Amino acid sequence: KAIHLTAYRPSTHLIDTVDLHVDLREEATTVRARLGIRQNPARAGAEPLVLDGQRLELVSVTVDGVPLGPDGYILSPDHLTLPDTPDTFVLETVVRTRPQDNMALEGLYKSSGNYCTQCEAEGFRKITYFIDRPDVMARYTTVIEAEKARYPVLLSNGNLVGSGDAADGRHWAKWEDPFPKPCYLFALVAGDLRAVEDRFRTRSGRDVALRIYVEPGNEDKCDHAMRSLKKSMAWDEEVYGLEYDLDIFNIVAVSDFNMGAMENKSLNVFNTKYILARPETATDGDFLGIEAVVAHEYFHNWTGNRVTCRDWFQLSLKEGLTVFRDQQFSADMNSAAVKRIQDVQGLRTVQFPEDSGAMAHPVRPESYVEINNFYTPTVYNKGAEVIRMYHTLLGAEGFRRGMDLYFQRHDGQAVTCDDFAAAMADAGGVDLTQFKLWYSQAGTPELRVTGEYDEAARTYRLTVRQTVPPTPGQPDKMPMHMPLVTGLLGPDGKDLPLRLAGEAAPGGTSRVLELRAAEQRFEFVDVPARPVPSLLRGFSAPVKLTADLTDADLTFLTANDSDPFNRWEAGQVLGVRILLGLVADIQSGRPLALPDGFVGAMGAVLGDAGHDPAFAAQALVLPGESYLGTQMAVIDPIAIHEAREFARRTLAERLRDRWLATHRAHAGNEPFSVDAAAIGRRSLKNLCLAYLMARPDPEAVGLAIGQFHGSRAMTDVIAALQLLAGSDAPEREDALAAFYDRWKDDRLVVDKWFNVQATSHRPDTLDRVRALLDHPAFEIRNPNKVYSLIGAFAGGNPVRFHATDGAGYAFLADQVLRIDPMNPQVASRLMGQFSRIRRYDATRQAQMRTQLERIVATPALSPDVFEVASKSLEA
Ligand code: ARG
Ligand code: ZN
Repeated sequence: KAIHLTAYRPSTHLIDTVDLHVDLREEATTVRARLGIRQNPARAGAEPLVLDGQRLELVSVTVDGVPLGPDGYILSPDHLTLPDTPDTFVLETVVRTRPQDNMALEGLYKSSGNYCTQCEAEGFRKITYFIDRPDVMARYTTVIEAEKARYPVLLSNGNLVGSGDAADGRHWAKWEDPFPKPCYLFALVAGDLRAVEDRFRTRSGRDVALRIYVEPGNEDKCDHAMRSLKKSMAWDEEVYGLEYDLDIFNIVAVSDFNMGAMENKSLNVFNTKYILARPETATDGDFLGIEAVVAHEYFHNWTGNRVTCRDWFQLSLKEGLTVFRDQQFSADMNSAAVKRIQDVQGLRTVQFPEDSGAMAHPVRPESYVEINNFYTPTVYNKGAEVIRMYHTLLGAEGFRRGMDLYFQRHDGQAVTCDDFAAAMADAGGVDLTQFKLWYSQAGTPELRVTGEYDEAARTYRLTVRQTVPPTPGQPDKMPMHMPLVTGLLGPDGKDLPLRLAGEAAPGGTSRVLELRAAEQRFEFVDVPARPVPSLLRGFSAPVKLTADLTDADLTFLTANDSDPFNRWEAGQVLGVRILLGLVADIQSGRPLALPDGFVGAMGAVLGDAGHDPAFAAQALVLPGESYLGTQMAVIDPIAIHEAREFARRTLAERLRDRWLATHRAHAGNEPFSVDAAAIGRRSLKNLCLAYLMARPDPEAVGLAIGQFHGSRAMTDVIAALQLLAGSDAPEREDALAAFYDRWKDDRLVVDKWFNVQATSHRPDTLDRVRALLDHPAFEIRNPNKVYSLIGAFAGGNPVRFHATDGAGYAFLADQVLRIDPMNPQVASRLMGQFSRIRRYDATRQAQMRTQLERIVATPALSPDVFEVASKSLEA
């Protein structure tokens, strides 16, 4: 069942042209495909043509106009095989499908009565018979025909080249995409949609019509997405010299979508969550998410579409690179420091656990059962860190030369991660052979750094040891090549000029130290006094770092480091130390106490918060429960939660006046804006409220209620509701009811209402989540609803999900088994927590094992869920 990277062979045949006729009718959809096919010169000798196809009802097959009888082909559930075909020919197939019954949301399906498609990775085979692999690239012409009243808008890739009315109140549109593309970039939309329009003129003078299509009534929620699109287009020209290449760029927002969005050529399809926003309905996080995802999909036009992947093992070629590009873009548009902190937090809370679990895989996986299981934080986010390391090793200019060379060599091609690395190596004049281990070795490398100051010799020596832990199928690892960006702070808190032994003169205050060996030493000379090292600045490599720094050193860094990421990180390291100490105290029944020094340090940050509220809001958040888990040999979710809550309560109490004062200072209803400074002020204000609500006295509850009713910005309303819903305050039920009543007609806002309840730490949360499954607003077939209720409970509420009685696990397994027959991708994504099984104690492992065994024993399980469940059991 598993597919292996090493088994790659070029396709037996190529398809140069695709002419589709898609006839959408209520009873069934008929697809006629005319494919211009030839043997692939890269494969010698005549071989049978094997077309992929699933859930298709075959109506007819002709070769060069001649109909084939049933003995001319072989039909199986997944393939249509033509044993004997000419060197070059036109194949025409006619198939029927029922998109209205397609609950998997892959291929052609309906969302809110509108037709749309999702073809990546292997959905095109559910639309028509095809060689469904990304290295088969063709020019597409698509005619869509449908009832005019119900489906006034008919869209596909490329340019609209014709349209007209047909008999019986029907109409048609013909689209032509001049760029050859793999079939995963095909898209089609038909529905009753309204367009919000704008224009963008490219640097070389092309006038591009921009349209965002939404369901009627949502036209007033597209401003931010449209602004983000125009900013992305301008940014890609400025930073990478990349322009848009067609006259039309369309986005369609649909409510039922498995992932965030999809970069189909000139017809991006989005989850509504990443398009629709007004200040009253969307949080600051939503606004930033929209900006990032709109940019991400737009950037794919070059990194993904113009240059695409040879096979799906190369997924990170486009995803890691495009995530890196969207991260750079968001950093330029907002606060770069906050963006970097949040990206690293995301990596640590989601990717690190994946990297130490049963589904651990390299950035370029070696094998898979179901490719949809590999759209992961490792491929996307660790993949982006790998690209960032090229950027750090080569420098911004070297990296840009590498990108230029990559496009020069590979525009219009389907290529591999090796091709990308070769372009970078050639442009940078560097040897990246060892660096490429990042593509093949899974697991989070661990660095141990020690420093020694020699006062007499005025030298400072860093010793760096690296190990890469074993992961499933990879017991032994080799040392990796990575940049360790380092600075040294003198006693005055200023960066020292850095001179390595053997260098004639100092070269800067931040140096890219290149690690290649299991153990390495770096000696700095002319160091006037014992320095405090600032290591891994900007989180220059995706590793776990341990350094021999004292609490005093860390406090010094939090006050002085010129690198904002490391200034934040020093506080986190301190926080992790203290919280893990509390966890150990809880486990052995010792009394708990929060060190005065830590309270003092937090108080200092808070006292100074007015200088940079956005940064303070990050620095005052204690390390998250999931990240703390990654720092333990055996995760104890209950003790982690108790320790963190104890620390939060203590800080709430000891710094109460300051939380109050800071909240008050920012509580004025300033006019809403989503610039970085305003977002920073709101997050600081809401953080203060969260601390106050950690000990919910009547004054704190009053503030939360005041904010809940008084603010018009969803960021503030939901922050207050979250705090109330998690508290014992009697007002909490009224607040939840009021919120639902106010927003029951807005599906995305109702998702937030589910999320707030699913992530509440109250002991009755699981019962509540169970009851909400029967709430009229809950839709088991809508992925956003499933993620907001079931996904949020399993992934965002460790203390309740990992309850000692195992009820959380049984609940999750029930839901996976219920969803799997409808939507395997969504079911499989819910399995993430089970794949961390070996990170927990024996009792929890046994409880999870019981559920996993129940899951794998279920008949007709999807390959998606089977792969995760069986790999989790093997771990
Ligand atoms: N390429 C899309 C993006 O990252 C994601 C599509 C994932 N689809 C899937 N079925 N796994 O922008
Ligand atoms: Zn992507």
